[in-house]
Amino acid sequence: MNIVLLGLPGSGKGTQAARITQELNIPHISTGDLLRKAYKEQTALGLLAHTYMSKGELVPDEVTIGIAFERLKRADCNNGFLLDGFPRNLFQAEALKKQLASMSKKIDKAIYIWMDEQILLKRITGRRVCSNCDETYHVVNHPPKIDSQCDLCHAVLVQREDDQEVTVKERLRVNGELTGELASYYRGAGILHTIIGLKSINEVTKDILQALRK
Ligand code: AP5
Ligand code: ZN
Repeated sequence: MNIVLLGLPGSGKGTQAARITQELNIPHISTGDLLRKAYKEQTALGLLAHTYMSKGELVPDEVTIGIAFERLKRADCNNGFLLDGFPRNLFQAEALKKQLASMSKKIDKAIYIWMDEQILLKRITGRRVCSNCDETYHVVNHPPKIDSQCDLCHAVLVQREDDQEVTVKERLRVNGELTGELASYYRGAGILHTIIGLKSINEVTKDILQALRK
């Protein structure tokens, strides 16, 4: 199954994508993760992307489309994939549709994690990520067993550079309207499932898996 996961920053896309892809045994493709990896490796593309990401702005379409399509061409996507954070606007959605059609593929389901915007700021500023394996935690909602240490690989937990309050506000502003437009786009295609993201992490996973079975 080919899945797109939509939602505002902090709605739980990364958290849920990790669980769903493990359950369905398909690759998790996060353009945010791919861009952060490129920056960590100090590639030209990563350095360019970082100038936008650090301000909470969207990275130019040609960069994200290039990075996403390159990943989608890999053989492990032949039995399905989950896209997290891509597409981000209607231009990317149309480009994705054309690219998949050229590969005789299509998006089967779009899952939209709906969240109350007031809660998002708390979720994002409380987020901590593993500096080694990218596992996501939250200081209150989902703390690690040992303070500041990843449960899985024991590396130190850090705050993402773009999770400072002022940058988060900009990300929410930039993504607000676009996320609504994308939800309408996939609703129009008859493949949208809206999931309420206010419930616990486990309950949201259950609701998404149920929607995918429909
Ligand atoms: P990206 O990495 O995609 O970030 P984002 O979309 O802003 O989303 P987040 O990763 O912040 O949140 P999430 O929804 O994954 O939430 P999470 O599961 O971590 O993009 C980063 C940047 O890259 C963008 O700003 C842009 O510059 C660039 N970019 C990426 N893709 C692009 C594209 N296609 N085009 C252009 N630019 C692009 O959860 C958040 C916190 O809440 C965690 O601490 C978690 O533990 C907690 N939590 C999760 N679920 C629950 C729950 N149910 N209950 C309680 N707590 C919960
Ligand atoms: Zn880890």
